[in-house]
Amino acid sequence: MENTSKVLVELCFGTTCFVMGASKLQELESFIPPQYKNKVEVKAHTCLDLCKNATYMKAPFVKIDGEIISEATVEKVLKAIESKLNG
Ligand code: FES
Repeated sequence: MENTSKVLVELCFGTTCFVMGASKLQELESFIPPQYKNKVEVKAHTCLDLCKNATYMKAPFVKIDGEIISEATVEKVLKAIESKLNG
């Protein structure tokens, strides 16, 4: 049976994340392969509250199905999406 639940990708565009590189993640959606497009839901946040925690110094942050990715790049996020969809 096909799994119809989508992978939830939460991007943070808060100040800390934005200056640390989240600005590049604005293009993420254009890099999602067409076959994955309807399996991925992308949401933008103004702060995921991770930058305030001293143990999370590595902005920008992205959450994928609740899993935190630090120092997120388009490549890292795409890999994580792929492993969720295939894993
Ligand atoms: S600005 Fe991104 S977690 Fe706070």
